[in-house]
Order: sequence, then structure tokens, then C-alpha cells
Amino acid sequence: MKRALITGVTGQDGSYLAEHLLSLGYEVHALVRRVALEDPAHRFTRIRHVMERVTLHAASLESYPSIFHVVSRNEFDECYHLAAQSFVAESFADGFSTMNTNINGTHYMLAALRELQPRCRFYFAGSSEMFGKVREVPQRETTSFHPRSPYGISKVAGFDLTRNYREAYGMFCVSGMLFNHESPRRGYEFVTRKITSTAAKIRAGLAPELWLGNLDAKRDWGHAKDYVRAMYLMLQQPEPDDYVVATGETHTVREFCERAFAEVGLDYQPYVRVDERLYRPAEVDLLVGDATKAREVLGWEPEYSFEGLITEMVREDLKALGGAETPAAPRAL
Ligand code: GDD
Repeated sequence: MKRALITGVTGQDGSYLAEHLLSLGYEVHALVRRVALEDPAHRFTRIRHVMERVTLHAASLESYPSIFHVVSRNEFDECYHLAAQSFVAESFADGFSTMNTNINGTHYMLAALRELQPRCRFYFAGSSEMFGKVREVPQRETTSFHPRSPYGISKVAGFDLTRNYREAYGMFCVSGMLFNHESPRRGYEFVTRKITSTAAKIRAGLAPELWLGNLDAKRDWGHAKDYVRAMYLMLQQPEPDDYVVATGETHTVREFCERAFAEVGLDYQPYVRVDERLYRPAEVDLLVGDATKAREVLGWEPEYSFEGLITEMVREDLKALGGAETPAAPRAL
């Protein structure tokens, strides 16, 4: 039985990945913060259904000794390093902690594995934010980076560290360059979940409007469930390499709104308001990925469409409010 270590297991991707690895017969271990262990009711909502089957270890990405301690006492075949401060807007507010957690956390993981378990395969959660002010469309593995936020910069550093450990020490270290991926488990501050949860609330008469920033930003949105399969496949290859994971389709935030509101039987226009304070100091205007390499080498294919993703998110948000699964006629304004 293979044994995997996941960091960030309480997040959207970590929870889907834990499920996927468990379904494949893995023994799954995870690093979690001590504060999370003290508050399982709130911190483990996404992994509640698999918690009995996951071995949790208390450690902090800000503490090398705590990571060293866990890695020195358990042998792992694979390590999926997903934990990070992942909200781009927050990285503008506090670039220092984003840098500390994202860069040092990755470095600590790599250094501990090199020291204690150099044969453990390592996955780094890279991001399409590394492409930032894009140099070509669509973006592929060879596209150069131009990050536009402290978050993007921290991911470029993590990507470089991962590649350096592969090249300098011969370790099996890879990065997934994952484009935006969403689901009903997405945090509420990310634009997709903010839209689907608020559309559901507006439909139920529980919110009057939805305040957003830049409606013209374009993203390549896939489903997290599809994307964690790609992470797993990357660690099963004969040689370590980096891969873009994307749908190849791009849509504006406005289009996402249009579709999500239509899902609850409403026209988005009277409800969506723009607050310029929600604009970012430097925006990534357009992201669209070319996942040809992942499709050809990993045999990866996404199962969800853009429409299917939104339908699932809106339905789950309606369900959480106790609303009908199939919305009735629109409420008159
Ligand atoms: N969050 C948010 N809130 N975004 C808004 C809003 C708003 O009210 N209004 C417009 N947007 C725009 C942002 O300016 C951005 O262009 C786009 O919606 C998507 O924002 P997010 O959902 O916050 O995601 P992100 O693209 O910045 O980053 C996500 O994807 C990356 C991969 O490309 C995160 O998951 C990152 O961790 C990930 O690496």
C-alpha cells in the first residue's frame, strides 16, 4: 500500500485529493496546524467524511523543526504540497506573510524530504498566476512568467525551488501549473463561490445584491475534482516533469455571473454592482491554458464543462440554504 502525505488537506483541493487517493487504496497522512486540531468542527468541514481514514500530524509550514519531526517518523512514497496562502487579493494586503508561508513552507518541505526521504516523490501546487501579464495565448509549459502579485511571485519561487531540487539533487519533484479550479467546496471569498452563493441567497430573498470588482477579467475555470487527478498522475510518471492543467476555455467574470444567475432563474444585471475597491492593484487580465502535454503524456481529460461546474456549484449553494434544487420562476423586482 502506498503512503502519501498531503499538506493543505483541509482546503478544497486537499479534500478532493484525499478522497481520490483513498479510493485508490493509499494510506493518507496529512499535516495540519495545531489550531485546526483544536477546532475540528470548523476547520475540518471539507474532510469530515474521510477524517477517520486520514492520519493527521500537527505541524506548521512556518516551522522547519515541526515538518522535520513528522518526516523523520514516517516514510512516504508521495508528498503533495498544496498548503499555501492562496487568496491573491490577500497577498496584496499582506505580502510578507504570503511570502513567508508560500516560499519558506515549500523550501522546508523540500529540505526535510531531501534530508530524510529523498526518494519520496514531491508535487508542488504551482499556479497560472505565475504567467500573470501573459506573454502568449494560450499559456503552456514553455511560456515565460510575469507574476502580477506577491502571491504569483511566491508561486514562481516555489516552482523554481521545486525544479532546483529536481536538477540539483536528482529528486522526483514536479510542479502542476494549475489554472483556476473551483467546486462547491471553494472558499467564499473567491469570485466563483462569491457569485454562486450570493446568487442563491438573492434567489431565496436573503441578499439584495452582489458587489464585485473587475467583471472583465478572464479566467480558465475547471473543476477541482478533475484537477486533483492530474496531480496524482504527475507523480506516477517514469520521469519528473511540469505540466499545465487547464480546460483551454476562457470566460469573463461577467459571463460567470450571467450563467450562475440564469441557473437560479434571474438576470444578473440588476443585482451585480461594481465596487472599485475590489479591483486589484495589478490585475491578471486573461488566463487560458494549453493542457496538450497533460492530455498526451498523462492521459488526463477533464470531465466537467464550464456550464456543468456552475450548475453544480449553484445547486449545492441552493441546497445549503434549503432552497429547491430546480429553481422556480424569477422573483419580480
Ligand atoms: N475574489 C474576487 N472577489 N475576485 C473578483 C471579484 C471579487 O469580488 N470581482 C472580480 N474579481 C476577479 C479578480 O480580480 C480576478 O481577476 C478574478 O475575479 C478571479 O479572482 P479569484 O477567484 O480570487 O481567483 P484568482 O484568479 O485571483 O486566483 C485563483 O486562481 C489561481 C490560479 O489561476 C486562486 O485559487 C489562486 O490560489 C490560484 O493559484
